[in-house]
Amino acid sequence: MIVPAAPLAVEPFDAVDVIAAKRDGATLTDAQIDWVVAAYTRGAVAEEQMSALAMAIYLRGMSRAEIARWTDAMIASGERMDFSGLPRPTADKHSTGGVGDKITLPLAPLVAVFGVSVPQLSGRGLGHTGGTLDKLESIPGWRADLTGEEILAMLGADGPGAVICAAGAGLAPADKRLYALRDTTATVSCVPLIASSIMSKKIAEGTGALVLDVKVGSGAFMKELGQARELASTMVTLGTDAGVTTRALLTDMSTPLGRTAGNALEVAESLEVLAGGGPADVVDLTVALALEMCAAAGRPVEEDQARAALADGRAMDIWRDMISRQGGDPDAPLPLAPETETVTAPADGVLTTLDALAVGVAAWRLGAGRARKEDPVQAVAGVTMHAKPGDEVRAGQPLLTLHTATPERFTRAREALAGGIVISQARSQEAADAVARRECGVILERIG
Ligand code: URA
Repeated sequence: MIVPAAPLAVEPFDAVDVIAAKRDGATLTDAQIDWVVAAYTRGAVAEEQMSALAMAIYLRGMSRAEIARWTDAMIASGERMDFSGLPRPTADKHSTGGVGDKITLPLAPLVAVFGVSVPQLSGRGLGHTGGTLDKLESIPGWRADLTGEEILAMLGADGPGAVICAAGAGLAPADKRLYALRDTTATVSCVPLIASSIMSKKIAEGTGALVLDVKVGSGAFMKELGQARELASTMVTLGTDAGVTTRALLTDMSTPLGRTAGNALEVAESLEVLAGGGPADVVDLTVALALEMCAAAGRPVEEDQARAALADGRAMDIWRDMISRQGGDPDAPLPLAPETETVTAPADGVLTTLDALAVGVAAWRLGAGRARKEDPVQAVAGVTMHAKPGDEVRAGQPLLTLHTATPERFTRAREALAGGIVISQARSQEAADAVARRECGVILERIG
């Protein structure tokens, strides 16, 4: 008996034609975009074809309409969360990634103090930028993976009102695959691809309001203010068009935030902020983002109210509740590195550069970050900064402490710092500029 062959699935487009169209500078149609994203997600477009298309997009760009459609197609590749049944409005924050950027840790509980629920679905670090989940996993027992019901319980009337956890695999799965591919094909730092990647996850997450912290400088994807503005305004438009109240701050990432870069080190610094202390740049940015989130969620607060909630322990109480409900022990001592080395100032003067990328790569090489998604990270590894740009220093004074569990990493970490530390004469123009930049603070512009 002859068994009839199963009919072949007929694809409406050929991936090669879509790649060639973008390579030659054409605007992709809605139907082409919907198909290529869906077909990639189900495996009908090969990895090498998607990487060629990502490179064509990288080189040729996309119109705002194409970016919007690409974002919608990535959202449609998975499920959406729904927070509309919660008793409080929701607001989330997303940072485009930086060095020493621990802001999410004090920010989420701080915003929850003011009756705004914070569904902070976060990721792990890749390359020199840290990941929020890696930081929190240095707290003994803390668990990143929660079910949808557990997330809703954290945000509901009987929960702390804030949750920081892993984004489930079902949210924008097309982005998960595409992001890993971009990471290995030099196609990450591209406005259409970054904007659609971030916004597809945030819109699918279901937050009512979103504040974007778009980093600018050597330690960020966007090195120039103009590029960062374009990224911010593209994302604000995507969010607003999707019904999410969206705003953005452009913030400086030419030097690390705060005085630590590394997982447990950054948790310890966040605890200082939650205890009413901590470095001024971290506190100022935490407060500024909290005000934006509360206002975007329709519950505006004044700056002194936000600062008071850090000083009087209300944000710390919510933090402790959040951590313990996810299995963490908020009183457990954080792990410390068994090995440390000190980097000292080579001369007297003013520290005019402490480069974010150099410090980020040093922390990564010490073991704080990963080169591949599946690599483990060291909770204890990282860099403590004893001086920041604009500070006067003396020859021989400790500038940095390097921390690791694997001392063979010190040499490569020191190599990463070469050229990243500059000391200028006390009365030079460079010294005056560094002091002036420090006084301006980290917030450069507001969009939305
Ligand atoms: N973060 C993301 O989620 N996606 C990008 O493309 C870049 C940063």
